[in-house]
Amino acid sequence: MSVRALVVDPSAPAAVRLGEVPDPVPAPGQVVVEVSHASLNYGDLNDARSGRVPVGAVLGSDAAGVVVRAAADGTGPAVGTRVVALASGAFAERVAIDTGAIAEVPEGLDLAKAVALPVAGVAALRSLRAAGSGPGRTVLITGASGGVGRFAVQLAARAGAHVIASVGSTARGEGLAELGADEVLVGLEGLERPVDVVIDSVGGSQLVAAWHLLAPGGSVQSVGWTSGEPAVFPPYATVGPAKSLTSFVIEGGAGPDLAVLAGLAAEGALTVEIGWQGAWDRFTEAAEALRGRRVSGKAVLEVSREERRAPALLPQG
Ligand SMILES: NC(=O)c1ccc[n+]([C@@H]2O[C@H](COP(=O)([O-])OP(=O)(O)OC[C@H]3O[C@@H](n4cnc5c(N)ncnc54)[C@H](OP(=O)(O)O)[C@@H]3O)[C@@H](O)[C@H]2O)c1
Repeated sequence: MSVRALVVDPSAPAAVRLGEVPDPVPAPGQVVVEVSHASLNYGDLNDARSGRVPVGAVLGSDAAGVVVRAAADGTGPAVGTRVVALASGAFAERVAIDTGAIAEVPEGLDLAKAVALPVAGVAALRSLRAAGSGPGRTVLITGASGGVGRFAVQLAARAGAHVIASVGSTARGEGLAELGADEVLVGLEGLERPVDVVIDSVGGSQLVAAWHLLAPGGSVQSVGWTSGEPAVFPPYATVGPAKSLTSFVIEGGAGPDLAVLAGLAAEGALTVEIGWQGAWDRFTEAAEALRGRRVSGKAVLEVSREERRAPALLPQG
């Protein structure tokens, strides 16, 4: 049996096409999820072209849907549970996922919103945790209009930090004050006082400028590099009182952090903004909108909207 999936194809627009792959065969510690929604991340656009995901392999990391087969080792959620997951190869009708990468979606939270949480939400949560953001700390978030940025603004504000959100234009900054940003800046212009933490998604010259603003003892978390520009540090820029530039990547099972984020979203303490939503066969349109900086928040793909069958409950064993 096969399932439909968004697979890497360098000859296709955005290097991705809808194709067929074999039905997943779960390992003992994996459930099978029938995916109803997927979310597109900036990293997926890079993965499709960089060779990190091989030609013909399934793209994607964020999936939400219903468990149709429980894990053989007895871990994880039961058949019929609504779940969200951070797993590679997420953009398929059915995916086998480690139980440690999954969280149950609480009642009251739509799968279309839950699916926006994995990569962007976990990156925001863990990078802030690594840097230490709380009352009395000033946190600068670059690329604050994007997926990671909008979650980081909210989580830092919730932790009690003074939050400075940096965006590419006034229009891109709309709504960030309501999410908890104390200041919304275009670029880093006019910012002179030191900051304790930088969550940087942009890289390039903005990373260099943010480094100069960092207070002694402070930390820059290098989460992404959407500018695509090199960062050129002037001589002696890194000589002085200790402060750190730390590389960041999501490692290890995201399940427990996803459960925290889904809980916050379900109780209305974390707003999930969807700036683009549509059927997954409109992948190219979604990719162009994301790369073109026209998505405020997250882009959500609906899997097989027209042709969806009722979840097929698979036999155990
Ligand atoms: N390390 C990890 O584990 C991890 C996890 C998640 C994401 N990431 C990375 O983090 C970055 C952000 O991801 P995301 O999903 O939040 O992306 P996103 O939703 O597309 O947001 C990125 C933001 O970056 C800004 N931007 C885009 N192109 C730019 C350019 N040429 N120059 C300056 N700013 C630009 C945009 O803000 P404006 O339009 O306001 O300028 C945009 O809102 C990506 O590089 C992604 O690969 C890494």
